[in-house]
Amino acid sequence: MVEQVTVFVPASIANLGCGFDIMGMAVESAGDILSMEMSEGDGIEIINRTDYDIPSSVDDNVMTPSIRAMLAAAGVRKHLKITLMCKIMPGSGIGSSAASAAGAVVALNTLLGNRFSEKEMVEFAMEGEALSSGGAKHADNVAPAILGGIVLICSYSPFEYIRIPFPDSFCAAIAHPRITVKTSESRAVLPKDIPLHDAILQWANVGGLVAGFMNRDMGLVGRSMRDVIVEPYRKQFIPGYDDLRDKLLAAGAKAFNISGSGPSVFALCEDEVKARELCSIMTEHFMSRGIFADSLVAHGDNRGARVIF
Ligand code: HSE
Repeated sequence: MVEQVTVFVPASIANLGCGFDIMGMAVESAGDILSMEMSEGDGIEIINRTDYDIPSSVDDNVMTPSIRAMLAAAGVRKHLKITLMCKIMPGSGIGSSAASAAGAVVALNTLLGNRFSEKEMVEFAMEGEALSSGGAKHADNVAPAILGGIVLICSYSPFEYIRIPFPDSFCAAIAHPRITVKTSESRAVLPKDIPLHDAILQWANVGGLVAGFMNRDMGLVGRSMRDVIVEPYRKQFIPGYDDLRDKLLAAGAKAFNISGSGPSVFALCEDEVKARELCSIMTEHFMSRGIFADSLVAHGDNRGARVIF
């Protein structure tokens, strides 16, 4: 007997400025769709019906470690055939690998009768994320992709998080310049030690950011979405980054930062018309430097990964 399920997984913006590896949010308007068929037997088969290349070997696909971890925990052997139907552009910085890993665990958990909790699903999905980030197990994309909204990771060991709904009135403008920034490389440039005065600023900003989202206070979110630890090292990968931030803030953006490890960047504001204007500023900025960029306006996705049929 073959059982089948199809899931949608939203894109996500990790870090949210100061929350490196501990905060992220799910956004609507982009996401993955994949279907999974489960039958008797063994092995994983991946069929790619998207426009993008995926690793040719199943062992190199981010879905595989997550699936193997879940099957081992369930103590079952099954043959799984996965068909990728819609994919966030790989390398865009809005959670493409996380969406694959999250989609695989949500689909498999559904086929296994929902035997694992949301928290366990996030932990299985982190196994896949580790493959794409050079071994680092972080949940700031996979957690919001699965749970929806904004997720703050309070602790990795033991694993604990809190979920904060993304305020309906907030809107994101996201631009993806077509340059390559590998997550593993953008992690390798980060400092191993941090001066105390930077750490103080950073944890003050994380507190302000969380309070801002919880109180739906965009002004506080904007003042707090400042990253003095990671952004200074990563902005070198994004041409004209400081100039772009100044232009966006002058045009009315409340916050601006790098989405995850880049190259996508995002700004927050409180209305869609403004978000469209910010998108134009971002795409023109990159185009004027000879870099093609596309953009999207997105509200938060507060539902997270879901079965669609
Ligand atoms: N927190 C991770 C990073 C997200 O910034 O490296 C990468 O997707």
